[in-house]
Amino acid sequence: MFSIAFLLVSAAAISSAYDGLESEYGVVEYVNILFRHGARTPDSLAPGDPYRDMKYWPEGLGQLTKEGILQHFNLGVWLDRRYRHILPRDRSQVNEAINVFSTDWDRTLMSADAEMSGIFPIVRGDAARWSGLTSYPVPIHSVPPPTDKLLEVTADCKRYAYLVKEFQDSKDYNQILNRYQNMTDHLVRHTGNRFFNLDFYMELYTTYFIEENRDLELPKWVRKVYPWPMVEPTVLSFVVPTWTTDMKRLRGGPFVKEVIENFWNKITMKLDQPNQNISMYSAHDTTISAVLNTMGIFNWKQPPFASMVLFELRKTQSGDRNVLIWYKNSTNDNPWLLKVPGCDAACPLTKLERILKPVIPENWADECNNVPLTTRVDTPGEELHTNSFGRRKNKIYFKKLVEQGEGGAPERINVDDDDKADARQGVPSTTTSATKASNAGRLTFGE
Ligand SMILES: *[C@@H]1O[C@H](CO)[C@@H](O)[C@H](O)[C@H]1NC(C)=O
Ligand SMILES: *[C@@H]1O[C@H](CO)[C@@H](O)[C@H](O)[C@H]1NC(C)=O
Ligand SMILES: *[C@@H]1O[C@H](CO)[C@@H](O)[C@H](O)[C@H]1NC(C)=O
Repeated sequence: MFSIAFLLVSAAAISSAYDGLESEYGVVEYVNILFRHGARTPDSLAPGDPYRDMKYWPEGLGQLTKEGILQHFNLGVWLDRRYRHILPRDRSQVNEAINVFSTDWDRTLMSADAEMSGIFPIVRGDAARWSGLTSYPVPIHSVPPPTDKLLEVTADCKRYAYLVKEFQDSKDYNQILNRYQNMTDHLVRHTGNRFFNLDFYMELYTTYFIEENRDLELPKWVRKVYPWPMVEPTVLSFVVPTWTTDMKRLRGGPFVKEVIENFWNKITMKLDQPNQNISMYSAHDTTISAVLNTMGIFNWKQPPFASMVLFELRKTQSGDRNVLIWYKNSTNDNPWLLKVPGCDAACPLTKLERILKPVIPENWADECNNVPLTTRVDTPGEELHTNSFGRRKNKIYFKKLVEQGEGGAPERINVDDDDKADARQGVPSTTTSATKASNAGRLTFGE
């Protein structure tokens, strides 16, 4: 038995990437791949940052680093192995093989580029005619941020802006901001940023993470709040934009819809290129968090550089279609299999579509125009974003956090400079509920 199975696998291995799940869930027929760009330099440096000198950032600000390039090249090689059976034997057939989309930023375009080099290498037999070129060029498509509802999620949407505004005016929201007021004061004082909101937490946290990884010593005042408790408002900044069903639908919904539509188009042979088996999306941590939270499978952790979500359509021998969603949030480790609430990890496509129906917009543009007549949203969305980092982002939603709490005034975090007390005291552990919120299960290949 074992030897027969082994023979089958090794015979198929020539054209198939096997992960040991085929017999149970079927062979991968189509895959949508969403990833975050690789390691980058900080987007911006606050006035109080000791590493403002550009000598520390030869790549420029907000740019992919050499490490980031390699991360994606290696992921490309990994994808080549995993999906060999749905890639063309002749890799020069790139146009039929793959559709690549990216947000319109250097770092995401370059990440996609590096990844393609890993998937579409020029093989030795073909090398002679290419005078030193090592991979086939692959087209990468992008649209400007103001019209990108799919990946950047910055296309104007009045209803979304309205929902954000509604929440920002709420008592709940302000109570939550209060919870971090002391830390905010501390950071305002030391960073020299006069204006402060949740997005700044995301931005600063990422900057300190990058500096730490470059072995740049963080000042004492940073150490006092980084990584903890800064990680709390940082994680919240990833979750709040898709807090309610309505928010999910307008922000993460377009991508969820794209994934499901690609699957159906593949099955019904309606893709522009019916033979195509792969579509790829190069985007941001905020894209991944929005999509995963919209599907109910976000783990309340900032998606790391070069993290990647695989949405696989698998077909069993009896013709059933299952969707498997994997989260490869470490470049070295196997991906995690994520389970959408209400379904098995291998979720029948029709069932998945039914479960996700409330968060899939039927007509995004129409729904975006659905705001109360009395509402005046001047420049739609504009006031609700920060432009400081070149990338408009939405801030928002905390209601649940308040509901989870005792209901009274939120406790504050004391980060007074002279106070030696443990800053952890008296702070509700959002990270604990965050961990619980994760419903990811680990699955190792071949087990
Ligand atoms: C897509 O996958 C099928 C099944 O493995 C394969 O026959 C086909 O050639 C693949 N398409 C491309 C463009 O490689
Ligand atoms: C990756 O995701 C898993 C599952 O949610 C989680 O347990 C793990 O901590 C994550 N790792 C990182 C580096 O975020
Ligand atoms: C906030 O910090 C100040 C000192 O900066 C301290 O006196 C105060 O008690 C703190 N408030 C809370 C609720 O921790």
